Amino acid sequence: MASVTLTSINKKFNNLSAVKDLDLEIRDGEFMALLGPSGCGKTTTLNMIAGLDVPTSGTIRIGDRDVTNLPAMHRDIAMVFQSYALYPHMTVERNMGFALRVRGYESDEIDRRVARAAEMLSLGDYLKRHPRQLSGGQRQRVALGRALVRDPQVFLLDEPLSNLDAVLRVQTRAELSSLFKNLATTAVYVTHDQSEAMTMSDRIAVFSHGQLQQVGEPLEIYRAPANRFVASFVGSPPMTFLDAMLTDDGKLAAGDLRLVAPPALQGLRPGEKVTLGIRPEDVQLVPDGLAANADIVEHLGSLQIVYLALSGQRVVAQVVEGSQIRRGDALQARIEPAKLYLFSPETGKAIYTPGRDGGRLPSHLELSK
Ligand SMILES: Nc1ncnc2c1ncn2[C@@H]1O[C@H](COP(=O)(O)OP(=O)(O)O)[C@@H](O)[C@H]1O
Ligand SMILES: [Mg+2]
Repeated sequence: MASVTLTSINKKFNNLSAVKDLDLEIRDGEFMALLGPSGCGKTTTLNMIAGLDVPTSGTIRIGDRDVTNLPAMHRDIAMVFQSYALYPHMTVERNMGFALRVRGYESDEIDRRVARAAEMLSLGDYLKRHPRQLSGGQRQRVALGRALVRDPQVFLLDEPLSNLDAVLRVQTRAELSSLFKNLATTAVYVTHDQSEAMTMSDRIAVFSHGQLQQVGEPLEIYRAPANRFVASFVGSPPMTFLDAMLTDDGKLAAGDLRLVAPPALQGLRPGEKVTLGIRPEDVQLVPDGLAANADIVEHLGSLQIVYLALSGQRVVAQVVEGSQIRRGDALQARIEPAKLYLFSPETGKAIYTPGRDGGRLPSHLELSK
């Protein structure tokens, strides 16, 4: 186990800045997700930690060793790739033991480690098979097994679940999560899937265009996003954003919609423009709220997503399926002022958020944790 410390890291590919001024510490034993859309620099960051890419500037430490210029094989890390990268002509057993053989381990020791990893991953019955004789989920576990036998100081995983179908992905996510909790080893996990990051991680580092936007625990990222990008990338269905203005009587006006502003708004004066954010689960359909019309209704099984027209504004609400809402229904909606999010329209920076204490993770995420 070891911490990983990235200091002032920049990575350029010709003229393209793939990673900009990155400072990030992954703590000893921590499971850290690098989250962001395709092309934001996640894999490049992971590859630099692995030693597969060299930073243009900056330093990388693993524990107290400066590894910036150390070749990959001396870093004591193990990487799991999106493509699995298994050797097709080798059995599962040989695939899993390969890195140890290359490093000159005794065959007894290799057998012992492979058997232990196979047991942890329920691969015992498949050791004599070749990769082509395995399902996608089993191949993924072999790729993980190959990393586990190394017993590295740091695990690096690049979208390891992205080739699995939706059901298997959620199941494997839970298994991986519990495996890493038991191992208590430092892990850096790259994903573009916010629900993976939210459910598996101790902390999440959110990236956009090569720049770190925020580092925090899942609930902090969700309820206290640093800016509009983080708020919009995390949460499903996504947050509704409205252009609004603070009125003289302490309300937020978005077109004809008037909402009571959150308490303790500091530094904001009447007439100032803000971007208002509303999480779908914070819209309550109650008998004594603002008039709302259900424009579109989607059924997700246990939940309903309702696209409301609220004084001419489109606001998305998420309610339990039992509410039996139909398209065209006249409803009433309420949004607690303290649950609103406000951002600067110019910089996107958060002006007000409910904060960590302002709520719980959505139930569909908590259930799978
Ligand atoms: N070897 C490379 N040569 C040139 N550009 C690259 C190379 N690797 C990555 N990039 C570019 O760097 C940016 C970040 O890529 P990457 O780290 O793979 O993103 P992510 O993993 O978040 O999808 C992208 O614009 C990508 O096209
Ligand atoms: Mg990538």
